[in-house]
Amino acid sequence: MLLVYAGDESVTWRALFASQAPDIACVAWPDAVDPAAVTWIACWNPPEGLFAGFPNLRAVFALGAGVDRLVARTDLAAHVELVRLVDAGMAAQMIEYAQLGVLLWQRRCLDYRAQQLQAVWRKLPPIARGETRVGVLGLGAMGGAVAAALAQAGYRVWGWSRRARQIDGVRCLHEASGLTELLGETDVLVNILPSTMATRGLLDRSHLAQLPAGALVVNAARGDQLDAAALLDLLDSGHLGGALLDVFATEPLPTDSPLWLHPRIVITPHVAASTLSGPAVAQVVDNLRRAHSGGPMSGVVDRSTGY
Ligand SMILES: NC(=O)c1ccc[n+]([C@@H]2O[C@H](COP(=O)([O-])OP(=O)(O)OC[C@H]3O[C@@H](n4cnc5c(N)ncnc54)[C@H](OP(=O)(O)O)[C@@H]3O)[C@@H](O)[C@H]2O)c1
Repeated sequence: MLLVYAGDESVTWRALFASQAPDIACVAWPDAVDPAAVTWIACWNPPEGLFAGFPNLRAVFALGAGVDRLVARTDLAAHVELVRLVDAGMAAQMIEYAQLGVLLWQRRCLDYRAQQLQAVWRKLPPIARGETRVGVLGLGAMGGAVAAALAQAGYRVWGWSRRARQIDGVRCLHEASGLTELLGETDVLVNILPSTMATRGLLDRSHLAQLPAGALVVNAARGDQLDAAALLDLLDSGHLGGALLDVFATEPLPTDSPLWLHPRIVITPHVAASTLSGPAVAQVVDNLRRAHSGGPMSGVVDRSTGY
Protein backbone atom coordinates (compact mmCIF):
# COMPACT_ATOMS: atom_id res chain seq x y z
CA MET A 1 0.00 0.00 0.00
CA LEU A 2 1.13 3.55 -0.81
CA LEU A 3 0.88 6.27 1.85
CA VAL A 4 0.99 9.86 0.66
CA TYR A 5 2.30 12.63 2.91
CA ALA A 6 2.27 16.19 1.60
CA GLY A 7 1.14 18.16 4.64
CA ASP A 8 -2.17 19.93 3.98
CA GLU A 9 -2.05 18.73 0.37
CA SER A 10 -1.97 15.01 1.21
CA VAL A 11 -5.58 14.35 0.19
CA THR A 12 -5.15 16.20 -3.10
CA TRP A 13 -2.07 14.13 -3.95
CA ARG A 14 -3.87 10.90 -3.00
CA ALA A 15 -6.63 11.83 -5.45
CA LEU A 16 -4.02 12.29 -8.19
CA PHE A 17 -2.55 8.86 -7.49
CA ALA A 18 -6.04 7.35 -7.48
CA SER A 19 -6.89 8.90 -10.84
CA GLN A 20 -3.62 7.86 -12.53
CA ALA A 21 -3.41 4.40 -10.94
CA PRO A 22 -6.76 3.24 -9.54
CA ASP A 23 -5.32 -0.27 -9.15
CA ILE A 24 -2.72 0.85 -6.59
CA ALA A 25 -4.04 0.97 -3.01
CA CYS A 26 -3.34 4.45 -1.70
CA VAL A 27 -4.08 6.31 1.53
CA ALA A 28 -3.35 9.87 2.59
CA TRP A 29 -1.72 10.72 5.89
CA PRO A 30 -3.28 10.77 8.54
CA ASP A 31 -5.89 8.22 7.35
CA ALA A 32 -6.34 5.31 9.75
CA VAL A 33 -4.28 2.47 8.30
CA ASP A 34 -2.56 -0.69 9.50
CA PRO A 35 1.11 0.46 9.61
CA ALA A 36 2.25 -3.02 8.58
CA ALA A 37 0.34 -2.67 5.29
CA VAL A 38 2.29 0.40 4.17
CA THR A 39 5.16 -0.58 1.88
CA TRP A 40 5.64 2.71 -0.02
CA ILE A 41 5.55 6.36 1.01
CA ALA A 42 5.43 9.29 -1.41
CA CYS A 43 6.20 12.50 0.43
CA TRP A 44 6.98 16.17 0.52
CA ASN A 45 8.60 17.60 3.70
CA PRO A 46 7.65 14.64 5.91
CA PRO A 47 7.91 15.27 9.67
CA GLU A 48 10.84 13.73 11.53
CA GLY A 49 10.01 10.23 12.77
CA LEU A 50 7.25 9.53 10.20
CA PHE A 51 9.05 6.62 8.52
CA ALA A 52 9.78 4.78 11.78
CA GLY A 53 6.11 3.86 12.20
CA PHE A 54 6.02 1.55 9.16
CA PRO A 55 7.86 -1.75 9.72
CA ASN A 56 7.41 -3.07 6.16
CA LEU A 57 8.46 0.06 4.29
CA ARG A 58 10.33 -0.74 1.06
CA ALA A 59 10.83 2.67 -0.53
CA VAL A 60 10.29 6.37 0.07
CA PHE A 61 9.56 8.50 -3.00
CA ALA A 62 10.52 12.16 -2.67
CA LEU A 63 8.10 14.42 -4.54
CA GLY A 64 11.04 16.61 -5.54
CA ALA A 65 14.49 16.34 -7.14
CA GLY A 66 16.54 17.25 -4.06
CA VAL A 67 16.80 14.74 -1.23
CA ASP A 68 19.32 16.45 1.05
CA ARG A 69 16.80 16.60 3.90
CA LEU A 70 15.92 12.93 3.54
CA VAL A 71 19.29 11.17 3.14
CA ALA A 72 20.43 11.87 6.67
CA ARG A 73 17.14 10.91 8.37
CA THR A 74 17.61 8.53 11.27
CA ASP A 75 14.06 7.13 10.83
CA LEU A 76 14.90 5.91 7.30
CA ALA A 77 16.38 2.42 7.67
CA ALA A 78 19.34 1.59 5.44
CA HIS A 79 17.43 -1.13 3.55
CA VAL A 80 14.62 1.29 2.55
CA GLU A 81 15.22 2.71 -0.92
CA LEU A 82 15.10 6.47 -1.30
CA VAL A 83 13.88 7.54 -4.74
CA ARG A 84 13.80 11.07 -6.14
CA LEU A 85 12.14 12.69 -9.13
CA VAL A 86 14.30 12.76 -12.26
CA ASP A 87 13.37 15.78 -14.37
CA ALA A 88 9.58 15.18 -14.35
CA GLY A 89 9.06 18.52 -16.07
CA MET A 90 11.51 20.43 -13.88
CA ALA A 91 14.48 20.55 -16.29
CA ALA A 92 12.56 22.76 -18.75
CA GLN A 93 11.83 25.19 -15.90
CA MET A 94 15.45 25.10 -14.78
CA ILE A 95 16.57 25.95 -18.32
CA GLU A 96 14.33 29.04 -18.24
CA TYR A 97 15.71 30.07 -14.86
CA ALA A 98 19.31 29.70 -16.03
CA GLN A 99 18.44 31.70 -19.18
CA LEU A 100 17.09 34.44 -16.91
CA GLY A 101 20.45 34.61 -15.11
CA VAL A 102 22.40 34.53 -18.35
CA LEU A 103 20.30 37.34 -19.82
CA LEU A 104 20.63 39.45 -16.65
CA TRP A 105 24.39 39.40 -17.33
CA GLN A 106 24.50 39.37 -21.12
CA ARG A 107 21.88 42.12 -21.58
CA ARG A 108 23.39 44.09 -18.67
CA CYS A 109 20.06 44.30 -16.85
CA LEU A 110 21.61 45.11 -13.45
CA ASP A 111 23.72 47.90 -14.96
CA TYR A 112 20.66 49.35 -16.71
CA ARG A 113 18.64 48.99 -13.53
CA ALA A 114 21.27 51.05 -11.69
CA GLN A 115 21.12 53.66 -14.46
CA GLN A 116 17.31 53.62 -14.35
CA LEU A 117 17.30 54.49 -10.66
CA GLN A 118 19.29 57.62 -11.54
CA ALA A 119 17.30 58.39 -14.73
CA VAL A 120 20.45 57.83 -16.79
CA TRP A 121 20.03 57.06 -20.52
CA ARG A 122 23.35 55.54 -21.58
CA LYS A 123 23.99 52.68 -23.99
CA LEU A 124 26.59 50.16 -22.82
CA PRO A 125 28.56 48.00 -25.26
CA PRO A 126 26.48 44.97 -26.26
CA ILE A 127 27.68 41.46 -25.39
CA ALA A 128 27.09 38.64 -27.89
CA ARG A 129 26.03 35.12 -26.88
CA GLY A 130 29.27 33.73 -28.24
CA GLU A 131 31.24 36.03 -25.93
CA THR A 132 29.22 34.99 -22.88
CA ARG A 133 30.90 32.23 -20.87
CA VAL A 134 28.53 30.15 -18.74
CA GLY A 135 29.76 27.67 -16.13
CA VAL A 136 27.23 25.08 -14.99
CA LEU A 137 27.94 23.22 -11.73
CA GLY A 138 26.21 19.83 -11.81
CA LEU A 139 25.49 18.04 -15.07
CA GLY A 140 22.65 15.77 -13.98
CA ALA A 141 18.97 15.79 -14.93
CA MET A 142 18.80 19.58 -14.42
CA GLY A 143 22.34 20.81 -15.04
CA GLY A 144 22.90 18.57 -18.05
CA ALA A 145 19.76 19.90 -19.70
CA VAL A 146 20.69 23.50 -18.86
CA ALA A 147 24.22 23.16 -20.21
CA ALA A 148 23.02 21.50 -23.43
CA ALA A 149 20.29 24.09 -24.02
CA LEU A 150 22.62 27.06 -23.46
CA ALA A 151 25.29 25.55 -25.70
CA GLN A 152 22.69 24.96 -28.39
CA ALA A 153 21.58 28.58 -28.04
CA GLY A 154 25.11 29.73 -28.87
CA TYR A 155 26.66 30.45 -25.45
CA ARG A 156 30.14 29.25 -24.49
CA VAL A 157 29.36 26.62 -21.91
CA TRP A 158 31.49 24.78 -19.41
CA GLY A 159 30.14 22.13 -17.08
CA TRP A 160 31.41 20.46 -13.92
CA SER A 161 30.37 17.15 -12.44
CA ARG A 162 31.75 14.50 -10.07
CA ARG A 163 32.50 11.99 -12.81
CA ALA A 164 33.56 12.65 -16.40
CA ARG A 165 30.57 13.54 -18.61
CA GLN A 166 30.08 14.24 -22.31
CA ILE A 167 27.52 16.74 -23.60
CA ASP A 168 27.51 18.09 -27.16
CA GLY A 169 28.93 21.60 -27.34
CA VAL A 170 29.80 21.70 -23.64
CA ARG A 171 33.34 21.64 -22.26
CA CYS A 172 32.83 19.06 -19.49
CA LEU A 173 35.19 19.09 -16.53
CA HIS A 174 35.45 17.25 -13.24
CA GLU A 175 37.64 17.06 -10.13
CA ALA A 176 38.99 20.05 -8.19
CA SER A 177 41.28 21.13 -11.03
CA GLY A 178 38.26 21.23 -13.37
CA LEU A 179 36.40 23.51 -10.97
CA THR A 180 39.36 25.92 -10.80
CA GLU A 181 39.57 25.97 -14.59
CA LEU A 182 35.83 26.61 -14.95
CA LEU A 183 35.65 29.37 -12.33
CA GLY A 184 38.48 31.32 -13.95
CA GLU A 185 36.60 31.45 -17.28
CA THR A 186 32.99 31.99 -16.21
CA ASP A 187 30.88 35.12 -16.63
CA VAL A 188 27.68 33.47 -15.39
CA LEU A 189 28.00 30.70 -12.83
CA VAL A 190 24.90 28.51 -12.54
CA ASN A 191 24.86 26.22 -9.50
CA ILE A 192 22.64 23.14 -9.88
CA LEU A 193 24.55 20.71 -7.66
CA PRO A 194 22.75 18.54 -5.11
CA SER A 195 23.48 19.49 -1.51
CA THR A 196 25.74 16.77 -0.11
CA MET A 197 28.65 16.46 2.30
CA ALA A 198 30.92 17.24 -0.66
CA THR A 199 29.07 20.31 -1.98
CA ARG A 200 27.86 22.11 1.16
CA GLY A 201 29.78 25.37 1.42
CA LEU A 202 31.44 24.78 -1.96
CA LEU A 203 30.73 28.33 -3.16
CA ASP A 204 32.87 29.90 -0.47
CA ARG A 205 34.90 33.09 -0.53
CA SER A 206 37.94 31.55 -2.20
CA HIS A 207 35.94 29.87 -4.98
CA LEU A 208 33.76 32.96 -5.61
CA ALA A 209 36.89 35.13 -5.75
CA GLN A 210 38.22 32.99 -8.60
CA LEU A 211 35.41 34.20 -10.88
CA PRO A 212 36.42 36.95 -13.31
CA ALA A 213 35.55 40.55 -12.39
CA GLY A 214 31.90 41.35 -13.06
CA ALA A 215 30.67 37.73 -13.02
CA LEU A 216 27.11 36.89 -11.99
CA VAL A 217 26.21 33.99 -9.70
CA VAL A 218 22.99 32.03 -10.10
CA ASN A 219 22.12 29.73 -7.20
CA ALA A 220 19.24 27.44 -8.11
CA ALA A 221 20.31 24.44 -6.02
CA ARG A 222 20.50 24.82 -2.24
CA GLY A 223 21.30 27.78 0.01
CA ASP A 224 23.80 25.88 2.16
CA GLN A 225 26.19 25.64 -0.80
CA LEU A 226 26.78 29.40 -1.02
CA ASP A 227 28.52 31.66 1.50
CA ALA A 228 26.09 34.61 1.41
CA ALA A 229 28.37 36.89 3.47
CA ALA A 230 31.23 36.31 1.04
CA LEU A 231 28.90 36.95 -1.88
CA LEU A 232 27.83 40.29 -0.37
CA ASP A 233 31.45 41.32 0.27
CA LEU A 234 32.47 40.47 -3.29
CA LEU A 235 29.47 42.35 -4.70
CA ASP A 236 30.19 45.39 -2.54
CA SER A 237 33.85 45.40 -3.48
CA GLY A 238 32.78 45.39 -7.13
CA HIS A 239 34.48 42.08 -7.89
CA LEU A 240 31.21 40.29 -8.62
CA GLY A 241 28.61 41.91 -10.87
CA GLY A 242 25.41 40.37 -9.55
CA ALA A 243 23.49 37.38 -8.29
CA LEU A 244 20.22 35.64 -9.01
CA LEU A 245 19.28 33.67 -5.92
CA ASP A 246 16.43 31.18 -5.60
CA VAL A 247 17.55 29.23 -2.53
CA PHE A 248 18.81 30.25 0.89
CA ALA A 249 20.33 28.72 4.01
CA THR A 250 17.13 29.70 5.86
CA GLU A 251 13.82 29.66 3.97
CA PRO A 252 11.77 31.77 3.88
CA LEU A 253 14.65 34.25 3.69
CA PRO A 254 14.44 36.28 6.95
CA THR A 255 13.02 39.76 6.42
CA ASP A 256 16.14 41.38 7.91
CA SER A 257 18.53 39.64 5.51
CA PRO A 258 20.81 42.15 3.72
CA LEU A 259 20.34 40.08 0.56
CA TRP A 260 16.79 41.41 0.08
CA LEU A 261 17.63 45.03 -0.65
CA HIS A 262 20.98 44.62 -2.35
CA PRO A 263 20.84 46.46 -5.69
CA ARG A 264 22.85 43.79 -7.54
CA ILE A 265 20.82 40.81 -6.27
CA VAL A 266 17.60 39.42 -7.72
CA ILE A 267 15.68 37.12 -5.38
CA THR A 268 13.03 34.50 -6.13
CA PRO A 269 11.36 32.33 -3.44
CA HIS A 270 12.56 28.81 -4.34
CA VAL A 271 10.63 28.61 -7.58
CA ALA A 272 13.37 27.90 -10.13
CA ALA A 273 11.86 24.51 -10.92
CA SER A 274 8.70 23.48 -9.12
CA THR A 275 7.35 19.95 -8.83
CA LEU A 276 4.60 19.37 -11.39
CA SER A 277 2.07 17.07 -9.79
CA GLY A 278 0.98 15.24 -12.97
CA PRO A 279 4.46 14.19 -14.17
CA ALA A 280 5.57 13.58 -10.57
CA VAL A 281 2.73 11.12 -9.90
CA ALA A 282 3.31 9.46 -13.28
CA GLN A 283 6.98 8.89 -12.40
CA VAL A 284 6.20 7.40 -8.98
CA VAL A 285 3.51 5.18 -10.49
CA ASP A 286 5.92 4.00 -13.18
CA ASN A 287 8.45 3.11 -10.47
CA LEU A 288 5.82 1.27 -8.43
CA ARG A 289 4.91 -0.80 -11.48
CA ARG A 290 8.59 -1.57 -12.10
CA ALA A 291 9.01 -2.63 -8.47
CA HIS A 292 5.91 -4.83 -8.66
CA SER A 293 7.34 -6.60 -11.69
CA GLY A 294 10.74 -6.99 -10.03
CA GLY A 295 12.50 -4.43 -12.23
CA PRO A 296 14.84 -1.62 -11.14
CA MET A 297 13.35 1.78 -10.29
CA SER A 298 14.68 5.02 -11.79
CA GLY A 299 15.99 7.81 -9.57
CA VAL A 300 17.18 5.61 -6.71
CA VAL A 301 19.45 7.71 -4.49
CA ASP A 302 22.92 6.47 -3.60
CA ARG A 303 22.84 7.26 0.09
CA SER A 304 26.64 7.04 0.35
CA THR A 305 27.14 10.01 -2.02
CA GLY A 306 23.91 11.71 -0.91
CA TYR A 307 22.28 12.17 -4.33
N1 LIG B 1 15.56 25.60 -6.83
C1 LIG B 1 14.74 24.70 -7.30
O1 LIG B 1 13.57 25.01 -7.57
C2 LIG B 1 15.22 23.29 -7.55
C3 LIG B 1 14.40 22.41 -8.26
C4 LIG B 1 14.86 21.13 -8.53
C5 LIG B 1 16.12 20.74 -8.09
N2 LIG B 1 16.89 21.62 -7.39
C6 LIG B 1 18.23 21.22 -6.91
O2 LIG B 1 18.98 20.76 -8.03
C7 LIG B 1 19.75 19.66 -7.61
C8 LIG B 1 20.20 18.84 -8.79
O3 LIG B 1 19.12 18.12 -9.33
P1 LIG B 1 19.33 17.02 -10.47
O4 LIG B 1 18.04 16.35 -10.68
O5 LIG B 1 20.03 17.63 -11.64
O6 LIG B 1 20.37 16.05 -9.75
P2 LIG B 1 21.21 14.87 -10.41
O7 LIG B 1 20.57 14.38 -11.66
O8 LIG B 1 21.49 13.89 -9.33
O9 LIG B 1 22.59 15.56 -10.86
C9 LIG B 1 23.53 15.97 -9.93
C10 LIG B 1 24.76 16.46 -10.67
O10 LIG B 1 25.67 17.03 -9.71
C11 LIG B 1 26.93 16.38 -9.84
N3 LIG B 1 27.60 16.28 -8.55
C12 LIG B 1 27.14 15.70 -7.41
N4 LIG B 1 28.07 15.78 -6.44
C13 LIG B 1 29.13 16.42 -6.98
C14 LIG B 1 30.41 16.78 -6.50
N5 LIG B 1 30.79 16.50 -5.25
N6 LIG B 1 31.25 17.42 -7.33
C15 LIG B 1 30.90 17.68 -8.62
N7 LIG B 1 29.70 17.35 -9.14
C16 LIG B 1 28.83 16.73 -8.33
C17 LIG B 1 26.62 15.02 -10.38
O11 LIG B 1 27.81 14.47 -10.95
P3 LIG B 1 27.78 13.08 -11.76
O12 LIG B 1 27.14 13.42 -13.08
O13 LIG B 1 29.19 12.73 -11.87
O14 LIG B 1 26.96 12.13 -10.94
C18 LIG B 1 25.52 15.33 -11.38
O15 LIG B 1 26.06 15.78 -12.59
C19 LIG B 1 18.82 18.93 -6.63
O16 LIG B 1 19.56 18.12 -5.75
C20 LIG B 1 18.13 20.07 -5.92
O17 LIG B 1 18.81 20.42 -4.75
C21 LIG B 1 16.47 22.89 -7.12
